[in-house]
Amino acid sequence: MKNINKKIKNIFSKKNINKEIEINGWIKTKRNTKKGTSFIDIYDGLSINHIQITIKKNIIKKLKKKIKYLTSGCSLKIKGVLNYNKKYKKKEINTTNIKIFGKIKKPNKYPISPKYHTLKHLRNVSHLRPRTKIIKAISKIRNTLIQNLHTFFLKKNFYWIPTPIITSIDTEGYSKMFELKNKKLFFNKKPFLTVSGQLNLESYACSLSNVYNFGPVFRAEKSNTKKHLAEFWMLETEIAFGKLHNIINISKEMLSFCFKKILKYNYKEIKFLFPKNNKYNETCNNIKKIIKKEFIEINYKEIIKILKKKEKIFTNNIKWGIDISSEHEKYLTEKYFKLPLIIKNSPKKNKAFYMKTNEDKKTVSSMDIIFPTIGEIIGGSEREDNIKILDKNINKKKLIKKKYWWYRELRKYGTIPHAGFGLGFERLLMYITNTKNIRDVIPFPRYHNYLKF
Ligand code: 4AD
Ligand code: MG
Repeated sequence: MKNINKKIKNIFSKKNINKEIEINGWIKTKRNTKKGTSFIDIYDGLSINHIQITIKKNIIKKLKKKIKYLTSGCSLKIKGVLNYNKKYKKKEINTTNIKIFGKIKKPNKYPISPKYHTLKHLRNVSHLRPRTKIIKAISKIRNTLIQNLHTFFLKKNFYWIPTPIITSIDTEGYSKMFELKNKKLFFNKKPFLTVSGQLNLESYACSLSNVYNFGPVFRAEKSNTKKHLAEFWMLETEIAFGKLHNIINISKEMLSFCFKKILKYNYKEIKFLFPKNNKYNETCNNIKKIIKKEFIEINYKEIIKILKKKEKIFTNNIKWGIDISSEHEKYLTEKYFKLPLIIKNSPKKNKAFYMKTNEDKKTVSSMDIIFPTIGEIIGGSEREDNIKILDKNINKKKLIKKKYWWYRELRKYGTIPHAGFGLGFERLLMYITNTKNIRDVIPFPRYHNYLKF
């Protein structure tokens, strides 16, 4: 017999039947039969499947004391022969030898025991939760999503610009920023962690035309909601000579492209994460709507008219100029339209200083993409390319003009019409993984009063 070292996902092929197999992995569960045989389920993370290992009586005898260390979480190397169990209609390994790498100290205290754990419990053991099926599934989908976002922008001829993390200015003009307090001496200026790399990205759009960035950004608002993190990842784009419809189209294409790839490469994980719907069609209904680019595109003004008709069900009165809040978003995407929404041309006073003012002078050429159950996924706009209007906005929003000197120079030296958007990466991941709390889709969450790992 030939000895072959295999990963679990590779050993299931027929040609391995009756061959000696060697695998490395971790124990998920173990159970003993009355006849004295033990069954253990092993995983190695590369596939969502576990493989069943049978340890017959004679081997148990041979293993002696070792057998008691075979508990959930124990890491080991298994040698055995792959065979097809006709009774259970599945392949299993008939163990001939076991090498334990690491046993579990105090198995009854192991925080990731095989029983059901709430996501809240798992959050408190963020260093161990990657071992659970749910976090593994989310991690694999995250990987597909990142790889394919890059693939999409490569195909569309966008250049990736890694914009800085340390900054001296507030991109949005109204954010709470984390200040690097003891580094002022180092820079001879107050340094902060960036809330968005957009302004730096715009500088590269004025040369390479189509650019994007993807990296961590930081927000110090003390919001403890299910969709806010203090550290999250954002993908931003800038398109030289682009208009609002260009960024809307590229957003839709990007979402459609990535969701298609996820159904292709992560069907097993998606099926696991949407357990109530077994059938492919039902399971992926919402994802398919995005793939087919079924969005409602509508002006802010029209949204207000729709909400006004249902004014009574909302906390505050509905009138032109209000911010669209979570309860409005929920009503619109889950009850009224039952589709993702693109809200265009919002009131200027609610939006950032860099957004391009429309002819009516009251609104800006903006767009926000709102998903059912999640809320805002993407925010973007045409950028104000007229230095006079930009300066007026800076003054009106009470920002310090001097600080934005280099950004203003982009308007003085060959200014161009351009537009861009920012995608909240974890919010998108929440949607596609059916996760209710953003803290469960980022490997190690950081939020107000929480910096545990
Ligand atoms: O709407 P925001 O604040 O837009 C910007 O930062 C622009 N500079 C983007 C651009 O045009 N280049 O943030 C963009 C997206 C939001 O739509 C939301 O999905 C996500 O980032 N986001 C958050 N995600 C998690 N935690 C937070 N605290 C978030 N704040 C915003
Ligand atoms: Mg926004």
